[in-house]
Amino acid sequence: MILITGAKGQLGQCFEQLATDFPQLSFVFAASGDLDIGDRAAVQRFFTRHSIQWCINCAAYTAVDKAESESAQAKRINVTGVKNLAEVCAAQNIPLIHFSTDYVYHSKQNLPFREEDAVSPKGVYARTKLQGERAARKAHPAGVMIIRTSWVYSAIGHNFVKTMLRLGAERPVLNVVFDQIGTPTYAPDLAAAVLSIIDKTMRGEIARETLAGIWHYSNEGVTSWYDFAEAIFDIQGLPCRVQPIETKDFPTPAQRPPFSVLNKSKIKSQLGIDIPHWRESLVRCLNVLDR
Ligand SMILES: NC(=O)c1ccc[n+]([C@@H]2O[C@H](COP(=O)([O-])OP(=O)(O)OC[C@H]3O[C@@H](n4cnc5c(N)ncnc54)[C@H](OP(=O)(O)O)[C@@H]3O)[C@@H](O)[C@H]2O)c1
Repeated sequence: MILITGAKGQLGQCFEQLATDFPQLSFVFAASGDLDIGDRAAVQRFFTRHSIQWCINCAAYTAVDKAESESAQAKRINVTGVKNLAEVCAAQNIPLIHFSTDYVYHSKQNLPFREEDAVSPKGVYARTKLQGERAARKAHPAGVMIIRTSWVYSAIGHNFVKTMLRLGAERPVLNVVFDQIGTPTYAPDLAAAVLSIIDKTMRGEIARETLAGIWHYSNEGVTSWYDFAEAIFDIQGLPCRVQPIETKDFPTPAQRPPFSVLNKSKIKSQLGIDIPHWRESLVRCLNVLDR
């Protein structure tokens, strides 16, 4: 049985929708009301009641700006909660797949980040995500796979694509920052990659021990939020004009990295994962939203 925590979040729901494509895998989906990962005793009880063989942690505190004024809550979920899961998984030798963020990279580097590059998170959300990674790896060194991902969107939940579609239908012009460079990640692509990694591991094509450590996953290509917005309106045929602005003219409580493109060579070469280009996945997402 594969446990999906945070099952009613954006990524959690994508796993639930994809589950039927993997009939050989069985799942238990736990929303925050079913399992609070910040409650160590509850985590222990849940694992005792269910026969868990893999844990995929989609639970997280993801309100990047709000985290600046809610650091205790962010820490409880992103650090303590992840540590709780890792400790219980370690005690039962269960692999834990956990998601982290491109925001751990915040420097002047302008080449796509590799997993071993220096981290320098700014802001509460980014720092708690890094602390969570470290707590998990310390608790379960041989059994935690951490996937750093970026700019996650889908037809589900709150995200940039859905915000642009809403605002683009209401306004003739939108200001969007052009000096933050990265790559969007279509959540169903990420979920499918993770399930295929589990499937390959269960079939013996990948050795379980090789999964431990840090991995990168986003779609292919490079863009800015401005170009991403342009692409959304272009594909969707919306007449909204996008005006490029600088980050300094759009102040937010938490700083975002100016450049956080992830190098995905490791996951592609070592685990045989094919990754679609971000624009191709965007077209698929917009088709789902149009249905
Ligand atoms: N979204 C992005 O752009 C992005 C970028 C990079 C990395 N990531 C990472 O990708 C992962 C998935 O993100 P997402 O976009 O799916 O986030 P999301 O939509 O905000 O989902 C997070 C889920 O976690 C649940 N949760 C919160 N506290 C919990 C707790 N104590 N116990 C159990 N569940 C709890 C939330 O439930 P409630 O709503 O009921 O509280 C929510 O369903 C996260 O690790 C995130 O840090 C996301």
